[in-house]
Amino acid sequence: MEPLYYHLVDLPSIPDSFMQDLLSRAYHEQRQDTSQNHLRPEYRSRMISNIDSDKLLPSTRSQRFKTSDDFAHWIRQNIVTDYTECSISVTEHALGSIHGAHTDWTRHWLLIYPFVTGGAKCQTTWYQQHGQSVQRPDLGCYVTDYSEIQVLDHVIMQERSWYALDTRVLHGVENIQHDRITVQIGLWHLDDVMTKLIF
Ligand SMILES: [Fe+2]
Repeated sequence: MEPLYYHLVDLPSIPDSFMQDLLSRAYHEQRQDTSQNHLRPEYRSRMISNIDSDKLLPSTRSQRFKTSDDFAHWIRQNIVTDYTECSISVTEHALGSIHGAHTDWTRHWLLIYPFVTGGAKCQTTWYQQHGQSVQRPDLGCYVTDYSEIQVLDHVIMQERSWYALDTRVLHGVENIQHDRITVQIGLWHLDDVMTKLIF
């Protein structure tokens, strides 16, 4: 069987009543990025080479913002009881149309629910770096030279559906055409949703 880097997960849709608050938190003028990527300036400002052209292209990044206590409570009641973080995330198109290949450093799996996908061609792609294992032991690693990696798989996620992504495998987002807005729940394992995986 082919290894799976992502799964569609049969979990309840997020009620519309939470939408307004989540979006206002995502774009609040005093929002505070909880991703801690400010601690890694070299990650935040990296340039991608050898992807589709010989030009260097800036990598955008995922910024994460705190949700309300009510929303976190709904997640614990309806989605998973135990998580590393529950956030509303924005991947800003203004910073770049690629989110460069990386492994996450605060989780092994990401339960993600796109409100806005980033465009019809926006895809999450998994890669393997030459000479390295597919699942990386090093959380928070990244690659800027795409001649060092090969594509393993990709998915174009649908709006308002839950997916579980293996974030220990190098992954990134390509073809970001406008801001991508997602709810993100960090997990160390899939035990709580194992019976809900559709594929
Ligand atoms: Fe990631």
